[in-house]
Amino acid sequence: VASQAATEAQPSGKASQSKSASVRAMFSQIAPKYDFLNHALSLNIDKRWRRFTAHQLSDILDRPGARVLDLCCGTGDLSMELASRSSTWGLDFCRPMLSLGLKKAAQAAFPILLIEGDALRVPFVDCQFDAVTIAFGLRNLETVDDGLREIYRVLKPGGRAAVLEFSTPALPFLGRIFDFYFSYILPQIGKAISGSKVAYSYLPESVKVFPNQATMSRMMQSVGFSNVAYYNLSGGIAALHLGDKLSSAD
Ligand SMILES: C[S@@+](CC[C@H](N)C(=O)[O-])C[C@H]1O[C@@H](n2cnc3c(N)ncnc32)[C@H](O)[C@@H]1O
Repeated sequence: VASQAATEAQPSGKASQSKSASVRAMFSQIAPKYDFLNHALSLNIDKRWRRFTAHQLSDILDRPGARVLDLCCGTGDLSMELASRSSTWGLDFCRPMLSLGLKKAAQAAFPILLIEGDALRVPFVDCQFDAVTIAFGLRNLETVDDGLREIYRVLKPGGRAAVLEFSTPALPFLGRIFDFYFSYILPQIGKAISGSKVAYSYLPESVKVFPNQATMSRMMQSVGFSNVAYYNLSGGIAALHLGDKLSSAD
């Protein structure tokens, strides 16, 4: 039910266009302002969330020869955090976002391999990566379940998935303040700066129908992940879910 609901929020609202097509068009339009708005609208807290995500994968990233895939990598901020520790591939289906990522990666000290592709049809055979991450991407896929299944498929046994996404604030009071900011203030600023009427209204709408922490944990378990756990970030405004793909030795 949760994954069905997650598909209901769609940027264009046009039933005739697939969610993927409208999501890609939306990110193509806002790409030039994406990083600026991300950091400004979150007061740079998003950077801390990505750093925390990389930190929680430390034991995996420090494995000799570790390979990491960052799905829906956008302009590459999480990919770059990961690449300083291990070989990192970033995948996204929006070329303007990837082009910006490419420019940033060219100036970074560590190489990243960027791939234009669909997170629901990852162009790798099974069991290739020690860690697979997805930051603020799962919510945008056609279905959450299919995204989780694809992550599980390309993980090596013994690997770990990290899902960073907006979530449900733990305290009702914080939830009400955040909801007001997210639903009324952020769309106005986002529209004024990015020029997109749709993108920053879709953001709160898609977060509202996204599974909460407990539901996401159950969904990860049901596609096969073990040791599923989550951290609330900034009081649950975002959450980082972790899950392991067990090896036969576990
Ligand atoms: C909110 S941005 C997140 C970017 C980045 N991970 C970050 O933390 O800033 C979502 C990204 O997901 C990408 N995306 C959405 N659906 C996708 C799909 N099916 N396959 C690949 N990329 C997708 C979009 O193009 C966009 O770049």
